[in-house]
Amino acid sequence: MNTRLAGRTALVTGAASGIGAAIAVAFAEEGADVSLVDRDVGDHLAEVVRRCEKFGATVHTEVADVSDEDAVHAAFAATVARFGRLDVLVNNAGIITESRVADMPAALFDHMLAVHLRGTFLCCRAALPTMRAQRHGRIINISSQLALKGAPLLAHYCAAKAGILGLTKALAREVAADGITVNAIAPGPIETPLADDLTEAKASVADLPLGRFGQPHEVAPTAVLLAGDPSGNLYTGQTLGPNSGDVMP
Ligand SMILES: NC(=O)c1ccc[n+]([C@@H]2O[C@H](COP(=O)([O-])OP(=O)(O)OC[C@H]3O[C@@H](n4cnc5c(N)ncnc54)[C@H](O)[C@@H]3O)[C@@H](O)[C@H]2O)c1
Repeated sequence: MNTRLAGRTALVTGAASGIGAAIAVAFAEEGADVSLVDRDVGDHLAEVVRRCEKFGATVHTEVADVSDEDAVHAAFAATVARFGRLDVLVNNAGIITESRVADMPAALFDHMLAVHLRGTFLCCRAALPTMRAQRHGRIINISSQLALKGAPLLAHYCAAKAGILGLTKALAREVAADGITVNAIAPGPIETPLADDLTEAKASVADLPLGRFGQPHEVAPTAVLLAGDPSGNLYTGQTLGPNSGDVMP
């Protein structure tokens, strides 16, 4: 039995699928209780609940759109009411669309920033009062290697993910004295439904030094590292890159 997160409570957004689901399950496996937040996704969340409960975790679920201020407030309030604490927040919820800038409707740009950047901001803000009161917290923001690299058809996505890196560094400096660390993970191409939605902008395996895409369970250990004590103690404002070697900042 792994116990690196025993006694911890973690909230993961976008937990019904892909990387978020893998992180939630890895946290449960390490002894954490988990609050799983996602938009309305039918039965997908229930399957992740089952996988977490297999490890003995207490699991709370919330259906919420991370770009909706009231819904985020309610999801965090319910989580803290249920568990009495919040140690780890993983801002993972995300979407993908493709468009050239020249053709991009402003609404498409705005929606991308709303889910990724506003969503991350709203969830960080909602977590802070509890983490400050505890004088302990770990915030992990899922960015992307594309924030560092750029990609045609994904300017809105790259901008949102780069914004998350700026937010991560600024917040890390703001809350360090409160015992809260804030870091980002910038994965390379990972086989998930989101990556399947890419058509023209698909990454090429040939570009990757390691010669293959990653799997969600290969990103989750980086989140466990950042959430853990002592493994994550000295990281703040950092970006960790499980990316098959594609970007070497
Ligand atoms: N898959 C990749 O190659 C890759 C690479 C780098 C970064 N990422 C990032 O990793 C994160 C997870 O992506 P994934 O590949 O696991 O995708 P995914 O599609 O498998 O999972 C994303 C989850 O986020 C949820 N979600 C979307 N919009 C939401 C909203 N407004 N409110 C609440 N939940 C919402 C979805 O319902 C889904 O369950 C995203 O932020 C993505 O940008 C993915």
